[in-house]
Amino acid sequence: MTSEPVPAPLPRFPRDFVWGVSTSAPQIEGAVADGGRGPSVWDVFAAQDGRIKDGSNARVATGHYHRYREDVELLERLGAGAYRFSVAWPRVVPDGDGAVNGAGLDFYDRLVDALLAAGVAPVPTLFHWDTPQALEDRGGWLVRETAEHFAAYADAVAARLGDRVARWITLNEPAEVTLLGYGLGQHAPGRQLLFDALPAAHHQLLGHGLAVQALRARGATDIGIANSHGPTWTASGSEADIAAAGLYDLLLNRLFAEPVLLGRYPDEELAALLPGPVADDLTVIGQSLDWYGINYYQPTLVGAPGADGVGAADFGGIRLPPELPFAPREIEGYPRTDFGWPVVPEALTELLVSFRERYGDRLPPVVITENGCSYEGIEDRERIVFLDGHLRALHAAMAAGVDVRGYFVWSLMDNFEWAEGYARRFGLVHVDYATLERTPKSSYHWLRDVLREQARG
Ligand code: NOJ
Repeated sequence: MTSEPVPAPLPRFPRDFVWGVSTSAPQIEGAVADGGRGPSVWDVFAAQDGRIKDGSNARVATGHYHRYREDVELLERLGAGAYRFSVAWPRVVPDGDGAVNGAGLDFYDRLVDALLAAGVAPVPTLFHWDTPQALEDRGGWLVRETAEHFAAYADAVAARLGDRVARWITLNEPAEVTLLGYGLGQHAPGRQLLFDALPAAHHQLLGHGLAVQALRARGATDIGIANSHGPTWTASGSEADIAAAGLYDLLLNRLFAEPVLLGRYPDEELAALLPGPVADDLTVIGQSLDWYGINYYQPTLVGAPGADGVGAADFGGIRLPPELPFAPREIEGYPRTDFGWPVVPEALTELLVSFRERYGDRLPPVVITENGCSYEGIEDRERIVFLDGHLRALHAAMAAGVDVRGYFVWSLMDNFEWAEGYARRFGLVHVDYATLERTPKSSYHWLRDVLREQARG
């Protein structure tokens, strides 16, 4: 526990600011064989030896599929205005491109109705990493057809839920799927293709654009994407470090922001490596969005690899291979979460202001679709300090002229943290994995009070 003082009241956010919390299907639902769900890449990956650090899998996870009513009650008592969850593609189209599974959609139908009855706006994400394994067997995101199947699935979800869902998210963090899933093999589907993973970026972005078209055709008027971004800090003023940090920023930030916001890739050499027709695809990818979602966790300090005497850091718990042309370095001088991630709220202000400067009026209103931290314990003062600091940083960005419309905490409850298994706890609500009992943490009560205070107006 820290001995930091109780934070003073937060500055006032606009009345129509959206306050939400986030989860994703593969991290909370469990029930992987219920209601006709097909296998996902994460089911298959987690079953392989040595893939998940604590040897766990997400077959049960938090049991949300069977306990969703209790979880909606938690949202209602929190006073959340919106709930970002994801729809599991393999529940809706178990083999990826065949028949739509009505029973799979029924679950989201019930969830959406329960949310609306509780006064919480449903914000579904269509893809949060759980590609149907049947499609992965045919190349997954490395092949173009997957983008087309994704659009057909998006249409099926919109056809069922579009009468009650106003706000949609296409993809979650295609950068991580590309880098960790196809580039380094630390996430599903476990491929280690390094730069040959780039087609997975292009096809996810194309899938995004095609899904936007499908949603628009069903009347949707409130669509965004959730991309992960963080400022890239340069390790030193040396030419080699500047070049390495520039490349890192290009691959992790600009490669995913610019096709969506500007309708072009940030670099011609890189665009030439992508499967086409790239120019045609970019008109689909770059269709205008109603808002732009940013998942922010931490800045990254980057330098050239192999510099003597300079310790390399990991990338969110993952050690990058030395053959990559950039190397994250430890960021000193900031507190750290239990995951070891530096806590740097002011980097959120920096990120948002730099986006506004880089993209000007091409940047639609921004929503922070994820922000949070992993700490042990139910008396989680550190999480309160973290969220308080980031909300102040967000407010500072808004005061500096960035149009931010909402903020979603990651996560409503502890859940399956991918390759880390259950060891990392990001929740406002504690989950006892032996009993699946939910216990609101101190941060949950703190946020509830913040939301009440903000609602008072
Ligand atoms: C981003 C991902 O979208 C989410 O699934 C993950 O749990 C959090 N970051 C924390 O690592």
